[in-house]
Amino acid sequence: MRRPRSVRDADVYGKRVLVRSDLNVPLEDGRIADDTRIRAALPTLRLLLDRSAGAVTVCSHLGRPRGPDPAYAIEPVRQAVCAALDDARVTVLENTRFNPGETKNDPSFARELADGNDVFVEDAFGSVHRAHASTVGVAELLPTYAGQLLERELEELGKLLGDVERPFVLISGGAKVEDKLGVLRNLGGKADAVLVGGKMAEELREKNPLPFEVVLPTDVVAASEFAADAQTKVVAYDSVPGGWLGLDIGPETCTTFAQYVQQAGTIFWNGPMGVFEWPRFAEGTKAVAEAVAQSDAFSVVGGADSARALQELGLADDVSWLSTGGGAALELLEGKELPGVAVIPEA
Ligand code: 3PG
Repeated sequence: MRRPRSVRDADVYGKRVLVRSDLNVPLEDGRIADDTRIRAALPTLRLLLDRSAGAVTVCSHLGRPRGPDPAYAIEPVRQAVCAALDDARVTVLENTRFNPGETKNDPSFARELADGNDVFVEDAFGSVHRAHASTVGVAELLPTYAGQLLERELEELGKLLGDVERPFVLISGGAKVEDKLGVLRNLGGKADAVLVGGKMAEELREKNPLPFEVVLPTDVVAASEFAADAQTKVVAYDSVPGGWLGLDIGPETCTTFAQYVQQAGTIFWNGPMGVFEWPRFAEGTKAVAEAVAQSDAFSVVGGADSARALQELGLADDVSWLSTGGGAALELLEGKELPGVAVIPEA
């Protein structure tokens, strides 16, 4: 895989450095619900400060506002970054998506971002699949380097594209079926077992468009309606009563999936096995998370929901690599070119 040049090789002494981080964290009532992405952005910022950068200006999008919107003001994120670094050289710019030029990769917004800076560091792995002004436009105007998080993500996820320790077990779930099929097409043929749960399983059972077999659930937790307090029963996958819905994989499937995971040499997991936000439908996702965390295999977990499940279970440190990217990780593993990486000169 192409290796972009590293911030570690940049001369930043006394320079004004613009950094694109992915500080797109979930907010609840204006407070940061999960600060994983902020913590992941700090090492690159610290490196720049340690190497005597004259000024470090950080920019990021937050949510999907279509212009200025107080609900997506960067302020809580700015406070968290400044509290962690406590350095007068650090500035955090307002949400890049408050400027309509951001998502259009408008040259004048890119120029506005670049002005007054000497160097650009691209560290927003979660956003490099977007060709926006702050991820691509500005990189065309300033000498650009990859930040440490971006480098590490490319390295760890890239391992799945090379020779892997076998058996290679791929676990896929969640609701965004179309987004995941690309990854399954690219990696699934190489995997020794592809385990599918969640809404993915329903669709693949109807019609499997993939050129290989997948392991589907044999039992499900059926619910009388789509509600956290619905009536439930565990049934065989083909015995869900009319009008009921399968909202989690069943205990037999949990055991089967855990057995595959226990034997794996390499694991990639993306997407929950059921509606894990509701505790009564979280057991399948929990069983997979625990099996992956207990495994000695090289394990990579991607996607916001799987990452959140691991964080909530306190297992985030028990996998080899927990990616900060959702769509970006999927596109990388699909084999697509990431515009925010392609724009960085090679090492
Ligand atoms: C993400 O959360 O996956 C990234 O921050 C990208 O956000 P976006 O899908 O709104 O571009």
